[in-house]
Amino acid sequence: MAQTSQPNKVQEPVDINEEPPKPLRSVITLVIVLALVIAATGVVRFGLFQGSTSPVGISNALAPLAAPQAPSGAGVPAAVNMGMPNTSGSTSITTLQAPLTAPHMKTFTLVAQNAILTLGNGLRVPAWTFNGVAPGPTLRVQQGDLVVVHVVNHLSFGITVHWHGIDVPNSQDGVAGLTQNAIQPNQTDTYRFFTNDPGTYWYHSHQFSDVETEGGLFGMLIVDPTTTTIHADVDYSVALHEWNIANNQSILTFNSSAGTLTQAAAPGQWVRLRIVDTSNTASTVPHLLTLIGAPFKVVSLDGHDLNGPQWLNGTPIPIGTAQRYDLLYQQPANGAVSLVVANEDTNQQYLRAPALVIGQGTLPATLPAVGSSWFDLTTYGQPVAGSLTLQSHFDVTYNLALNNQMGTSLGRTGMTYTINGKVFPNTGMLMVKEGQLVEIQFDNQSNLYHPMHLHGHSFYVLAHNGKPLTGSPVRLDTVLVPPHSTYDIAFVANNPGIWMLHCHNFLHANWGMDTMLAYYGYTTPYTVGTQSGNFPD
Ligand code: C2O
Ligand code: CU
Repeated sequence: MAQTSQPNKVQEPVDINEEPPKPLRSVITLVIVLALVIAATGVVRFGLFQGSTSPVGISNALAPLAAPQAPSGAGVPAAVNMGMPNTSGSTSITTLQAPLTAPHMKTFTLVAQNAILTLGNGLRVPAWTFNGVAPGPTLRVQQGDLVVVHVVNHLSFGITVHWHGIDVPNSQDGVAGLTQNAIQPNQTDTYRFFTNDPGTYWYHSHQFSDVETEGGLFGMLIVDPTTTTIHADVDYSVALHEWNIANNQSILTFNSSAGTLTQAAAPGQWVRLRIVDTSNTASTVPHLLTLIGAPFKVVSLDGHDLNGPQWLNGTPIPIGTAQRYDLLYQQPANGAVSLVVANEDTNQQYLRAPALVIGQGTLPATLPAVGSSWFDLTTYGQPVAGSLTLQSHFDVTYNLALNNQMGTSLGRTGMTYTINGKVFPNTGMLMVKEGQLVEIQFDNQSNLYHPMHLHGHSFYVLAHNGKPLTGSPVRLDTVLVPPHSTYDIAFVANNPGIWMLHCHNFLHANWGMDTMLAYYGYTTPYTVGTQSGNFPD
């Protein structure tokens, strides 16, 4: 799958029975590689060899990714405004800000730029990155910090940064066309927000989210608690990402390694693994992960600690796009512990790569079969008295039917992904008032999984298929709704503004599955469409 092997997949003009002499062969190879690159990128925008640091050769013939293309033509809205119609006494979301300073501040700079990533196993891919790497730098902060992030855009197209799972003030949410205009080339923007909830989060672009996140504009954000709740000697983060490369192939990586990552841990040490799935998962079936070599617990979901988690042994963990799982285990006296992932097409076999091997040793020669009983967040851990239930009093309830059908979205015809039969921006808004207890019922009527994400709030999971949770309360920002099933969630409307609610399978978001949670009385000056060029997906 290295780019040098691509010519093998080309039917012409090389006749394998009649190989040309070697020098001619390499010329042909070069021509084919260049042709493939040009074909794959559509237009050679930046010169073929830009971004390559090693001597020019076939293996360096990697063009930067082609810039995202804004939809155009009939049916693409010019300017859609997601706020309330401008009524008297309304407030602009731009006023919803964090203070300029605070006693505890952490400042970072993220520079969006092209890079060629080395994925290991001889694979190199062109990517859009923050600071030259993908995942971008892990931003590590303390609970209660005022986080200040300067974002510099050295790419040729607009970007934003969305702080996934952090309840930021609405104007800092990083959604192009809703909470800001996309940051244009050579512009800088600064985000400010408090990190009041400890846990594992991540960030990614929310302009053309689909291609920009897949292309590498993402990273992790970890908030350490003021008071430690979970002791760990080793704390390691893994982003599971899928890169689309030439010939419709995809490469799965742990932290941009398609091979084996290693991490030291001494016998007896407690190890915390923070895992985020940043991939698009074309099949929509979640990736399955497990730990081999030690029993483990799932201690947090989407950054929020679980109550009384039990030990698990080799249980397959289904992780939907954007979800985070924190695993905890104790390094055994002998041997390594390995994090492995199953091939999502079949989910029957753990892959030998990518893999993470922790401690002394190697990946076992034989990997266990993928068990059929997956981790189930609705029965895991211990209940807590007084939690929200289906019987709680909700001020407002919204039902969202999720489905897909052939149709049109933003001027394109194809498979659309619908909420109550409609595609964005026609899906309407879920209106709430500050202080209300809001219930949402996701009713997935399709054959696909939909990881549904609400911005600006975390929610409690009440029930799955009408059955209340029997284990720990579960607080998420992204719930993976399996085919033909329902989830009931609830949250307090405590963060005013206008917030996206969408499927985090970005392909589905790109083709319609987005809506807004809007607080009465708020307006936004920004618009989605051709006029502004803002397309949040
Ligand atoms: Cu991870 Cu709309 O976001
Ligand atoms: Cu979906």
